[in-house]
Amino acid sequence: MICFSTDWSHSASRSRFLLSANSYSDVWRAVLPRISDTAVKPRIIVENARKTFKLRHTHSLKETFIALIRKKTTTSTFDALHDVTLSISPGESVALLGLNGSGKSTLLKLISGVLQPDGGKVLTRGRVAGLIEVGAGFHPDLSGRENVYLNAAILGMGKDEIDARFDDIVEFSEISEFIDTEVKHYSSGMFLRLAFSVAIHTEVDILLVDEVLSVGDEPFQRKCLARIRELHDQGKTLVVVSHDLNMVSDLCERGVLLNKGRVVFDGDSHSAVELMRR
Ligand SMILES: Nc1ncnc2c1ncn2[C@@H]1O[C@H](COP(=O)(O)OP(=O)(O)OP(=O)(O)O)[C@@H](O)[C@H]1O
Ligand SMILES: [Mg+2]
Repeated sequence: MICFSTDWSHSASRSRFLLSANSYSDVWRAVLPRISDTAVKPRIIVENARKTFKLRHTHSLKETFIALIRKKTTTSTFDALHDVTLSISPGESVALLGLNGSGKSTLLKLISGVLQPDGGKVLTRGRVAGLIEVGAGFHPDLSGRENVYLNAAILGMGKDEIDARFDDIVEFSEISEFIDTEVKHYSSGMFLRLAFSVAIHTEVDILLVDEVLSVGDEPFQRKCLARIRELHDQGKTLVVVSHDLNMVSDLCERGVLLNKGRVVFDGDSHSAVELMRR
């Protein structure tokens, strides 16, 4: 999935309004009173974020009906994230670590604005590109070419800019042979190649990557990692989710360890990985 936003945005209402830098500064002070005006302003602020999902306990209309007659509960709620607080500065590279189901993807979706928090706040500053789910954000009936234009436009590029970068995007993806094929016929790796290529050819401030690299073949993964490092060297902010602990501790300076939806460690990535391996 490629998702994005520009300017100061509040994920809880990102689709409805984008705050200007001036109006944001008021919100900023309210959110983090300890940050002085002269301090470097974070790119991402997550403050006491909570995400609750509803769990169903019936499988059919009939079961639901019987449960209701017997006054049994048919649903319950589950907090995938509890009270998560984080602040990520420009140029930081952060690995989100944790066992399956610990809330990493949910947190990344809150930061990208795909999901909204049920409590607390999630704020981002700058343009966000998220590679969160393979194939999401692509229209299956459109060709690779058309999807490049669609995704790049969503990422804020104008037609002329896309025209100028189109060849580079396709060249990086190495799937030029299939660029006019409808993407519903693409393999997972082909989706990744095109989505990644579009994202890195756009002027983003924050890049979010959730495990999607794992569907790429080894040479392409190496190429992606090299490009991610270049983006980091250029001062972009990275948030990466991966179970490849060696790779993330090498790529990211900071590690945030989640356990059952709570942050249990936030420090250097090597210590986070050590804790994760215990
Ligand atoms: N849409 C949803 N509806 C109900 N529960 C959900 C939903 N999305 C996530 N969850 C639950 O939230 C919890 C956290 O899920 P999440 O995908 O964030 O975990 P994760 O840390 O990314 O795990 P993994 O390492 O397996 O990718 C899980 O228990 C999951 O079942
Ligand atoms: Mg996940």
